[in-house]
This record gives sequence, C-alpha cells and structure tokens, in this order.
Amino acid sequence: MDTDPGIDDAAALSVAINDPKLDLKLVTTVAGNVTVDKTTKNALKIISFFNQGDKIPVAAGAVQPLIKPFEDAARIHGESGMRGYQFSNETPEPLKMTAVQALHKYIMESDEKVTLVPTGSYTNIALLFSEYPEVKDKIERIVAMGGTLGYGNMTSAAEFNVFTDPHAAKIMYQAGVPIVMVGLDVTNKALLTHETLAEIETMNPAGKMLHDIIISDGDRNENGVAMHDVNTIFYLLHPEFMQTKPLWIDIQTEGPANGETVADIRVAYHNGKTNAEVCVDIDSQAFNDWFKAEVKQMKV
Ligand code: BDR
Ligand code: CA
Repeated sequence: MDTDPGIDDAAALSVAINDPKLDLKLVTTVAGNVTVDKTTKNALKIISFFNQGDKIPVAAGAVQPLIKPFEDAARIHGESGMRGYQFSNETPEPLKMTAVQALHKYIMESDEKVTLVPTGSYTNIALLFSEYPEVKDKIERIVAMGGTLGYGNMTSAAEFNVFTDPHAAKIMYQAGVPIVMVGLDVTNKALLTHETLAEIETMNPAGKMLHDIIISDGDRNENGVAMHDVNTIFYLLHPEFMQTKPLWIDIQTEGPANGETVADIRVAYHNGKTNAEVCVDIDSQAFNDWFKAEVKQMKV
C-alpha cells in the first residue's frame, strides 16, 4: 500500500493489516492529506496499534508532488491527519530507505507478481516507474483510489489524489500496467452509515478507534461518511459487489480542469484500446456489511 493517512487511509490500512486473505508486504507513504512526516508517523501508529511493528515495514516517500506545489487536506483530516483518537507516540522507526528504493527492492525480490494499492497521490509510483521501469513486469495490477468520471471533490473536474499530483497520475496511467480506478463514482455512493458507525463503536477496541477517527472526518454528512480508500480493499476482496467498465483514461495537467481524469467514454478515439477498469457502481449495503464483518475480526 502506498498511502497518506488520512482517516480513510487509516481505515483501509486497518482492514489490509487484519484481513487474513491479504498479505500486506510493505507500506510506503506520500505527502497528501498532510505532510509526509505526519503520514509516515500515522501509518506507523496504525501498524503499532495492531502490534504489527515487527512484521510490516514502512518507508517514507515523496515530500511533494513532481511539479505542482504541495497543498494538504488538513481541513478534512485534522492537523495530525488522523484526528479523533489518541494513539501512542511510541512507534517503530521507518526503514532507512526511501519509498521508491523499498518498492523496488520488495517488488524485485518477491517470488510472485505484486498488487500496488495507492490511496494517496501517485508521486512515489511515478518516480518508481521512471527510475526502475523493470518493476512493471512484476506488477500484477494497480488498484488505485482516485479520479472521477463525474464531479470532483477538489474542483468540479478533479478528485483530490489526482489533483494533488496530476503529472504523476499521467505517468502511472501511461505505464502500461493494468489499473483499476476506484474513484468518486463509487466511493461517494458507498457511505458508511451512522448505524454502521454506531455498531462498530462498541464492537471491540479497533472498532472504537475506527469509529472515533471516522466521525472526525470533515466530509461526513447526514447520510454517513465516504471512506474512499477503503473501497480499494473492498474491490480487492469483493469485486462482485462493484461494476466496472474498461476505458481509456488520460489526465489533464493544466488549466481549470487540472487533475481531471478524462475518459474516452466511446472507446473510439483509441481504437478500442483501454488502460483501466473503471469502477462505476457499487453495492453500498454490501460495503457496510463487509466493513462491519472486517472490524469484528480485528484483534489488538
Ligand atoms: C481521497 O482524498 C483524500 O483526502 C482521501 O484520503 C482519499 O484518498 C479522496 O478524494
Ligand atoms: Ca488517501
């Protein structure tokens, strides 16, 4: 996982750590919701919370986007990036290598092809592909939160992760690696409801922690809270509850639509060639039921 915790990143990471069907090998961090020193500390806090400090390594990544100036989202996630819960400050140290170096090492040393799950901007992935293009052959696919075929959440055109580093997104989408785009088209539909949140609050200590950070998310509304990044893990484990469409996605890198994920909807201009499976619909009830079941089996 390449991540910028971030409340929904922290929830996604919690599920990825605990679900026995997943084998989380490495966590890399990027500047996004807050600065990279904070996103790194936050990833380490979540890993420590679940007592996995000796099993899941963390490497700190890019401090800023490739070209655009860095803008955080602290207004949504709080100054710390994970407001709402008092975590222990005693965390393990990150690896003494950069995210790009760690990704290169873990991918090349892996016996099997790996899946990348970016839930922040794609700066580390773009740098990795530019510096070590040989990794591409060892990547099964990228399941990335970001983008939208409809309205954005930063501008009317752009979603936050792509808006933060559109140049990196362009490099990732042009890399020739299979991509699943888990964007606002599904994540804004699959709100965790207030009923779900009330249930997880009293389930166990992990549920209490997740409840406390999730209700602090500045994006919640009367119907619930979008847990954008958690949808990547839901897709990995339960693609049957999402509908996808193969499309050609390109990225706008300047002007008023900067950061827009532009889809060739007719798949005509690119002669039927596509570069992404785009998630277009989701079973929101199934998402809530699954999330509750995931939290129920979390152990601290
Ligand atoms: C994305 O933006 C971030 O604030 C969230 O963590 C998520 O990755 C949603 O647009
Ligand atoms: Ca994120």
